Amino acid sequence: MAGVTVAVTRAIPEAGLDRLNDAPEIGDVRLWADDLPPDPEELVALLAGCAGALTLLTDQIDAEILDRVPGLRVVSNYAVGYDNIDVEAATERGVAVCNTPGILTETTADLAFALLMASARRIPEGVDYVRAGRWQTWGPRLLLGQDIHGATLGIVGLGRIGQAVAARARGFGMRILATARHEDPVADELGVEYRDLDDLLREADFVSLHVDLSPETTGMIGADELALMKPTATLINTARGPVVDTGALVEALREGTIAGAALDVTDPEPLSADHPLLALPNALVVPHIASATVATRDRMATVAADNLLAVLRGRRPEHIVNPEILA
Ligand code: GLV
Ligand code: GLV
Repeated sequence: MAGVTVAVTRAIPEAGLDRLNDAPEIGDVRLWADDLPPDPEELVALLAGCAGALTLLTDQIDAEILDRVPGLRVVSNYAVGYDNIDVEAATERGVAVCNTPGILTETTADLAFALLMASARRIPEGVDYVRAGRWQTWGPRLLLGQDIHGATLGIVGLGRIGQAVAARARGFGMRILATARHEDPVADELGVEYRDLDDLLREADFVSLHVDLSPETTGMIGADELALMKPTATLINTARGPVVDTGALVEALREGTIAGAALDVTDPEPLSADHPLLALPNALVVPHIASATVATRDRMATVAADNLLAVLRGRRPEHIVNPEILA
């Protein structure tokens, strides 16, 4: 048997590509080797005739694309988030949607905490200062930041990643508040107190976002919410850019409504170098790298490949978003 064709929409770590290349039922692994993602037409051409697609969060998989590649049985996303995929449309067409939850939880929490610490202690500003040759003496008022120990952290969304951030905050002696859709006994173990969003925003010195992107969370942090925050508070976003209203955030940072923002995700994404956010010294932006460690990206690649292979083999994948299609 010639074997089926699968597509991989960018060069993921070798560990995942090896899995696919070594699978006996796969005849051809079509790899999109460019650094930039395929546009929608290129994506359709890439997926034409494929039984499986290993996709990235930069690929929009909607009903129209699915209708144009009718042989597709599985879309395996190399990410925990799957807001780039129209899951309902996939389910209606019998296409399995898979993701990589769990694997990147701790790595993402590490970056959220790194952003918190970097902005609290003004590390990027300090680095720029030294590089610019401005360091002339020890300064009694130089680059004064905020204490992390003893401060209050507000976690918006106490899911897997939110809990991992809480565990770190506990080690740093922070007081921890959280919003959650369902109260979880783990909150007690982590020393977390529940609040509704408004109270959390009023009380927290650092607000860290850990919700999925959905219609309910789009624009969840807008001008009204930013106005509730303390003028000394910092907003950290490692979730999805559109959870925050970017225009309102720029305004709040400019006006001093809040002290700073540290963002791994933005709306739009990517941000162009002349975006108003990047002109603000109190905005720290990194390019969506929360899961970007060698070990975690290797595991994401193997899990995404294994999820795809499981569907092609008629087995239940480890992580499937729409299990109802298997029934
Ligand atoms: C990254 O943002 C992911 O969803 O895995
Ligand atoms: C700072 O370096 C100090 O010794 O206080």
